[in-house]
Amino acid sequence: MSALPGSMEGALTTGLDDSPVLPAPADLPPLTEQTRIEAREIIARYPVARSALLPMLHLVQSYQGYVSPEGVALCAEELGLTKAEVGAVATFYTMYKRRPTGRHLVSVCTNTLCAVLGGQRIMDALSADLGVHHDETSADGSITLEHAECLAACDYAPVVTVDYEFYDQQDVESARALVQALRRGDKPHPTRGAPLTDFRGVSRQLAGFSQHADEAAAAAAVDAPGEYGPTLAGLRLAAERGESAPEMQGPEQPPADAEEPRETVRPSGDTGETPGKEAADARVAAADNPAEEAGAAQSHPDKGAEYGRGRPAGGLDRSGTGTPAQSEPAGGYQGPGTGRTVEGRTPPKRKG
Ligand code: FES
Repeated sequence: MSALPGSMEGALTTGLDDSPVLPAPADLPPLTEQTRIEAREIIARYPVARSALLPMLHLVQSYQGYVSPEGVALCAEELGLTKAEVGAVATFYTMYKRRPTGRHLVSVCTNTLCAVLGGQRIMDALSADLGVHHDETSADGSITLEHAECLAACDYAPVVTVDYEFYDQQDVESARALVQALRRGDKPHPTRGAPLTDFRGVSRQLAGFSQHADEAAAAAAVDAPGEYGPTLAGLRLAAERGESAPEMQGPEQPPADAEEPRETVRPSGDTGETPGKEAADARVAAADNPAEEAGAAQSHPDKGAEYGRGRPAGGLDRSGTGTPAQSEPAGGYQGPGTGRTVEGRTPPKRKG
């Protein structure tokens, strides 16, 4: 199978869309019996077979550099799913590639913080240097470039990742130099984390397999200790200045300026209404400003009937008979729109 997801043949195979894609590379390595053995090893890790689909898709990418129709078919066969079900998952997540990926995947964060600090300029410069746009691969097959949403490293902005390893606080020149090094075949050490591999290597890791030849190589690839300078900058400044955050107030310690807690509105059960409606009436009655009143009316079960009408000048007609709010009868407070008295409650104070 040589068709790509998205090509006409790929669409027939996988049920994916038919947007135009690059032709399949002639040297695409086939999936082998070893791939199937490893897929079954992944499946055996899970109590429910289909839970293995995500790492299996990474496994396919570790062999072929993307989720090929052949890979979709293998996953479907091994898991007893339809190709469309596998395709639906593969097209949902951006980490699953729908066309062959270059040796390295370079992701440039262009989300807000990185963008304002130069992320978009980096993306534009790399795009010009490589002659590609988002989700395209350079002609020499070395780099697939993509823009990424927030990479969860805003304190190190602008951030670039290569095969999901971080290169922090980049600018146009440093990012260009990084990509030139990658194209030469070098693997500059990431700012933090594990040493750089390549897209297929990291896909194998994501599938849950070691890509290292032996234990010594695996031990050498353990994440390097991080440098948390930018993350801890605020803490350091606060320590220098002797500042500290105010103590958190627990729910049992309301702030000193908090208003008196409101009386809890509990349905009495003697109005003949459902508890929900009685409570909603009481919430409208208890509102002490027009905004609260409108909010309570909006959530009332009779919204659109009694409460959906426009308010008469001079306040909400609480009696439903046009009686202004200021002229409520003595001896009890009439519930909103009911002409009934809400027992045990005093009319709400009105401001202004
Ligand atoms: S905005 Fe770029 S890492 Fe968060």
